[in-house]
Order: sequence, then C-alpha cells, then structure tokens
Amino acid sequence: MDKKNFPIFKNAKFQGSISHGSGSQEKDFIYLDSSATTQKPQVVIDEIKKVYENYNANVFRGLYRISEEATSMYEETRKAVADFINAETSEIIFTKNTTESLNTVVYSFAKSILKKGDNVLLSEMEHHSNIVPWQILQKEIGFNILYLEVDKSGQFTNLDLITQKEPKIVSVVHISNVLGVINDVKKITKMAKDVGSYVIIDGAQAVGHIGVDVKTIDCDFYAFSAHKMMGPTGVGVLYGRKELLDKMEPLYGGGEMILSVSKDSCTFKDAPYKFEAGTPNFVDIIAFRKSIEYINDLGISNIHKYIKDLSTYTHYQLSTLKEVEIYGDSRDTGIISFNISGVHPHDVATFLDEDNIAIRAGHHCAQVLMKKFNVQALSRVSLYIYNDKSDINALVKSLSKIIDYYK
Ligand SMILES: Cc1ncc(COP(=O)(O)O)c(C=O)c1O
Repeated sequence: MDKKNFPIFKNAKFQGSISHGSGSQEKDFIYLDSSATTQKPQVVIDEIKKVYENYNANVFRGLYRISEEATSMYEETRKAVADFINAETSEIIFTKNTTESLNTVVYSFAKSILKKGDNVLLSEMEHHSNIVPWQILQKEIGFNILYLEVDKSGQFTNLDLITQKEPKIVSVVHISNVLGVINDVKKITKMAKDVGSYVIIDGAQAVGHIGVDVKTIDCDFYAFSAHKMMGPTGVGVLYGRKELLDKMEPLYGGGEMILSVSKDSCTFKDAPYKFEAGTPNFVDIIAFRKSIEYINDLGISNIHKYIKDLSTYTHYQLSTLKEVEIYGDSRDTGIISFNISGVHPHDVATFLDEDNIAIRAGHHCAQVLMKKFNVQALSRVSLYIYNDKSDINALVKSLSKIIDYYK
C-alpha cells in the first residue's frame, strides 16, 4: 500500500555476502513480523523529533508556554484515541503497552471483586499477558481459571462454559496473535453480560487492523499497544468504562495523579489521571496521534480489505508448498502460522534472514496454545499495509530453497 513512506525499507537493505546461494548482492528488506511490532511511517518518526526539538517540557506541570502546548498535544492524542475506538476521553488511560493495560485491570479492578472460588474465564489462545497476571493473582485469592477451548481451525468449541460456569470475569483476545482468527467479541460479551460477568478484551492485534468500536462490543475494558499500529513503542492504551474507572483504585501512586497529600493520607484525581502516575511517555504519546491520523487517512476498512486480500494470496502461495502445514484457517487477518515438516521454525527464520526476510519463530508467547497443538514452536508471517505480493513471492521462493536444502 505505502512502502515508500516507511524509511526502514530504504535503510535495512542487506549488503553482506550470502552463504546459501547467490554470493554478495543487495537484498530488499522484507518485513513479515508486524504482529510483533509494526514499522513506522516517516510522519511518526518526524513527529518524535519535532516534539523533542520544540515542545520538550513536562506535561501538566509547567506554567509556561511549551509545557502547556505539550499538555494540549498530549490530550489531543487522548481525544484521537477515544474517537478511534468510540470512547470518551475520560475512559482512555495511557500505559506503556497492552501488558501494562491488562495488569492494570487485573490489579486495580479484578483484585477488588474476586473471591476464593469465583471463576475467571480466559481462552486457550491467549497471549501470556492475558494469562500470567491472572495466575499471579490467583495465588493470592484462590479463584478458578477456566479456559475456552480452541479447535485446529481456531474456533472456540465450548462457549457454553460462559452460561454453565457464570464467571465473574471473561477476558479474551480479539484477534489471536498465532491463528489470526477474529473472535466474535460482541457475541461473547453479550453471553457474558447475560450471566452478569465483566468483560475484558485484549485488542493488541485488532486496533489498526479492523474497526474497533468499544460501545458496540459493549465490553468493560479494552487493551492495546501503539507500537502494533505504526505508533511509537512505550505507549499502551487501556479503555475502561467510566463508571468502573471511577470506582477503581489506582495501581501506581506518585506525582500528578493526586489532588492532595498529607502525612497520613491522599486523595486522587478523577479517571483517567489517577491511573497515570509520574511523568508519562509524553513525547511518544504525542507522536502516536500521527499514526492514528495515518490510519484514518487510509481508512481502517481499506486497510482490513488490503490485508485480507494479501492474506488470501499468502495462504494460496503457501499451499503450493506441500511441506508447509498452516495452523488455523483464518484469511481475515494477515497472521499466518505454519510449520515445515522436518525443519525447526528457528532454522526457517534464520535461513530466511539470509535473504533479508524477517519472520517470527517460537512459541509466540502462547505456550498454552502450543501445548494444545502439540508443537514446541511455529513460524509466523504477519502482514501489514507496507507488504505486497512481491514480498510473498520472495518468501515462497526462499521457503522453497529451504525445503530443497533440507531434503
Ligand atoms: C494478542 C496479544 N496480546 C498482548 C500482547 C502484548 O503486547 P505488548 O508486548 O505490546 O504489551 C501481544 C503482543 O504481541 C499480543 O499479540
């Protein structure tokens, strides 16, 4: 769609000598690991530099011009994020990533409502960041963790667990970072609300790929990361329903989140500010707005369609290699995990790197799913707007070389 706007593709060409095959030659950089983090367009990179060069003053603190300007730009990003997912600005908390957003919900919200014997429902396709915080809290409180099960195609097979077990909390991923499947979070939320559960959605792989409307989904919390949608690293978002945020205690205490402090006690600001203790990552948060504008200019539905079409093409091309086994059959997103029989995924990734093609190999922070599928690791291709068919053709060519080599 827009490769020329991403400087990495000019700068990360491979100049070195190549051991498997064609000697020394320049190879284009082919990035197929956008689920791990996306590349940044020039406008986002420029904005970071612009803020440091022109507006670098701590937000909310300075009674002088550039601090006030930085503060208002910081709040403009909050407004852009709120509009992007159809929330109110008071419902948008800046964190450092999805992981911190989910931990904030676990410790500031779930901890206050869960009791021994309660049920919390997760799914087998969760990223570790939506499993581990629950397991840590479970040790303290003694609630039960139950799992929605996943079949080979990536569908949940026991959604009726929601009605049977009436969990206090349901916390599930919107788009699986391994299978690429888009879960019907609206339906899951409705089922959960019908039995009185609170609902948390991990949207790390969704925002920036499909239109997300938290009011339509009707969830209570929604977590995501800026770096997975062309924004800077070190910026996360937690959406929380206002009436819940108002009741919650902050996870961190410190500067700027208080109204008053005495020797014995303190009072907090209203949400979202009570959840943003200390100096926030304001430079990157300000620059994050540029990535949202970039997505809005392209149109989120155009982005989704573009990636879907490229995903269908990728599935087809990979299916021409009979040694490749794909896990999950979703073509709705650009996340495609696979294995090549007889070749370890780490060797696949290392070999591809020699052709300057970057993919991810490993357990993808989803060991529960790996165990379910009885694999140690998978190779994963994940697409974004700067990929095109030529990238996939190069991938398939390189994979064929690997298959021949290991034969
Ligand atoms: C589905 C999902 N959830 C959570 C995360 C964690 O995101 P972060 O590392 O930005 O906290 C990831 C990262 O890959 C993810 O794919």
